[in-house]
Amino acid sequence: MDTLFLIGFMGAGKTSVSRALSRQLGRPVVEMDQRIAEQEGMSVSDIFARKGEGYFRSCETALLNSFSHSEPCVVSCGGGVPMREENVAAMRRSGLVVLLTARPEVILRRVKDDHSRPLLEGHKDIAYIAALMEQRRPKYEAAADITVDTSDRTIAEICREVLQQAALRGQPQ
Ligand code: S3P
Repeated sequence: MDTLFLIGFMGAGKTSVSRALSRQLGRPVVEMDQRIAEQEGMSVSDIFARKGEGYFRSCETALLNSFSHSEPCVVSCGGGVPMREENVAAMRRSGLVVLLTARPEVILRRVKDDHSRPLLEGHKDIAYIAALMEQRRPKYEAAADITVDTSDRTIAEICREVLQQAALRGQPQ
């Protein structure tokens, strides 16, 4: 199977599902936020605060471009990755794009006690999450080869559906 790029809103389940898929497929997993934080020697929140969001977005694009010459893996993308056309093109060049979705109230439940996402600090409410999700939805949907709703499902069920849909798209496993 080609590299799987998991995209979707913050709290959609990208990290947990990527880890489980990587175990099942015996492929390495790359958590983009973590990789960028390691490269920069500071947390994502600190990168936003000290170097600005634009700098973080250019780190994301550089990292995505590096996957075209890496072995197939499972990539957990930051929630903002599909907002740039060039990021979508880079993902499509080297793999299959899997969109994970969830209802705003489910997202809020998953992110409410976490403080590592600068875009949600001070905005942990359904109205804000629903509005940002709606604003991003066209780009998420346009980027996706496969879409799986994670709202009322276990990680195992989500992985099964991702792999079933990937197989339907002719991806050998
Ligand atoms: C962001 C999502 C975060 C992280 C950064 C910005 C976004 O990643 O990249 O805080 O713009 O949606 P997760 O989706 O892994 O939380």
